[in-house]
Amino acid sequence: QELPDILRRMPKAELHIHIEGSLEPELIFAMARRNGIELPYPSVEALRAAYAFTDLQSFLDIYYAGAGVLITEEDFFDMAWSYLVRAREENVIHSEIFFDPQTHTARGVPFAAVINGLDRAVRRGREELGLSASLILCFLRHLSEADALATLEQALPFRDKFIGVGLDSGERGNPPEKFAAVFGRCRELGLHLVAHAGEEGPARYISDALDLLKAERIDHGVRCLEDPALVARLAAEGVALTVCPLSNVKLKVFPELCRHNIGELLARGIVATINSDDPAYFGGYLNENFTAIFEALPELGAGEAYRLARNSFEASFVPEETRKGWI
Ligand code: HPA
Ligand code: ZN
Repeated sequence: QELPDILRRMPKAELHIHIEGSLEPELIFAMARRNGIELPYPSVEALRAAYAFTDLQSFLDIYYAGAGVLITEEDFFDMAWSYLVRAREENVIHSEIFFDPQTHTARGVPFAAVINGLDRAVRRGREELGLSASLILCFLRHLSEADALATLEQALPFRDKFIGVGLDSGERGNPPEKFAAVFGRCRELGLHLVAHAGEEGPARYISDALDLLKAERIDHGVRCLEDPALVARLAAEGVALTVCPLSNVKLKVFPELCRHNIGELLARGIVATINSDDPAYFGGYLNENFTAIFEALPELGAGEAYRLARNSFEASFVPEETRKGWI
């Protein structure tokens, strides 16, 4: 078997996907039409052409604008269902899906509409696609910790519909310590904890996410290589990084795919995984991330493919008993 075939066919888990980042331009236009929303772009092609980013913030501006068409529970269901169908086609058998409730509640969309629509898709995915999926609620780090705490309160009646919390949006100037209290509260509630760190922010944000937020997994984390002591710690403690190669190039974290550091992360014993982040915006779903990075980096072969698939299951929040049957 050719390596790209192996990569596409192997069962895998996805641990870093923002569901709002799976909203394709076609769906944005369909939802705008049915919700009576006027878009500032004349066509799907014109919208797609605007997806030329210079950094994280330039992406976030257009990503939050795109999410503005999501109004009803049905919209959230449709968005998540279309991701799950696509993921299943790519042999994703488990997915831990981020969602950003504040992006929607700030526009007057009820929290219940967001989570009930997503939850319905997740449950149908388990039943009809055999894809094990769960939700992780992300706090927007450009907003205040008080806003995050209020969002957590809104979420508590739906506690059984999400397995953990994360931290996303603009990293620079919004360090982990800003959210220490809300993460502490989530920890008391028995929620899993993850955080974006070391994407645009410095290596220090990674160690602070571990020490101050007690994050169990780091999203991105690619800037850890700037601190050798941190690399040694991540490897020794088995802290997983959810790396997103196509995202990193689109947002200029690396100038080109062939300059990406995932090969080095693996070589140093870090539990790295491959993920799509925001596939509708970054030019590819999970398999495209796998095939593109393996093509760009000559040091990646069948051994790394197997390692990455295994890492994706081991780094997941699925109980070990269940995981055993998958690896
Ligand atoms: N970083 C921070 N926030 C995000 C991202 C990301 O890569 N994708 C969606 N929200
Ligand atoms: Zn992300």
